[in-house]
Amino acid sequence: MNEIRASKIWHNGELVDWDKAQVHVLSHALHYGSSWFEGIRCYDTRRGPEVFRLQDHTRRLIESCRIYRTQPPFSSQEFDEAVLETIRANDLRQCYIRPLVLRGLGSIGVNPLGTSVECFVIVWEWGRYLGEEAMESGVDVCVSSWTRPAANTFPTMAKAAGNYLNSILIKMEAEANGYVEGIALTPQGYVSEGSGENLFLVKDGVLYTTPLEQAILPGITRLAVMTLAQDLGYRIVERVVAREMLYTADELFFTGTATEVAPIRSVDRIQVGQGSRGPVTASLQSALSEILQGKVEDRHGWMTPVHSKIGAAP
Ligand SMILES: Cc1ncc(COP(=O)(O)O)c(C=O)c1O
Repeated sequence: MNEIRASKIWHNGELVDWDKAQVHVLSHALHYGSSWFEGIRCYDTRRGPEVFRLQDHTRRLIESCRIYRTQPPFSSQEFDEAVLETIRANDLRQCYIRPLVLRGLGSIGVNPLGTSVECFVIVWEWGRYLGEEAMESGVDVCVSSWTRPAANTFPTMAKAAGNYLNSILIKMEAEANGYVEGIALTPQGYVSEGSGENLFLVKDGVLYTTPLEQAILPGITRLAVMTLAQDLGYRIVERVVAREMLYTADELFFTGTATEVAPIRSVDRIQVGQGSRGPVTASLQSALSEILQGKVEDRHGWMTPVHSKIGAAP
């Protein structure tokens, strides 16, 4: 993996040097997990650098904060501008983008309402999360012994830092046991999602994915893949997925900003389908990558050019 470093970070409306973007050790977020973030990617397309589904990500950021009664002093449009400004300031053509809102200094009581709200946009050059080979041959995964949070515990629709303690446990356990990723079940034993990815399965030519009430993050790549699947004429069904459906699927794949569309070749050492990337997964991978590389027209309006002004007439 490349070193995580760039030149400038956006902090509360100002571009500051990489090493100057700091928070105090008594920041509420460090003690209680009270921060909300996004993971977005900018691609070096044939038309120049473009950000994938920028507005959807900044909207999810504001909504994550709202669930926790936190109003950042910047609108989603201002975050959009901040993202583009930060990429330009770092002169990057392809990068990972991490907007972050955190509860800072002011109180160390559990209620964060008296604390400052610090906003950052961090960008850095980044390659593939799972590696090139995995995108072709697929990854080996397990069902995690850790479950996703029950309803009324932690809201999984919020992309909150605290939720990622659950993801950390899932991912660490999977890797410790020789798997690339873990799939978590809900407390009722149904399939939820990976530690940082949504999940799709293919059976008899139909695509299935778990619905939002199965403790998933409402993934933006998940929505994009559902749209592309419709474009390609596949039937797509959101339904509760039983664990055993993982073992009998023709194809399985993850979706996410980091992984894009990543085939799964085995679950708990049981081969999925033919044990390699299936045709439906391959067709969705290439439909998405053609858009991300700018090889086809951006017919869904998902790409935002870095050298553009939000809201400007086309
Ligand atoms: C827990 C979890 N589920 C799903 C996803 C996929 O979401 P997206 O496609 O918006 O990146 C992520 C990635 O952020 C995640 O962390």
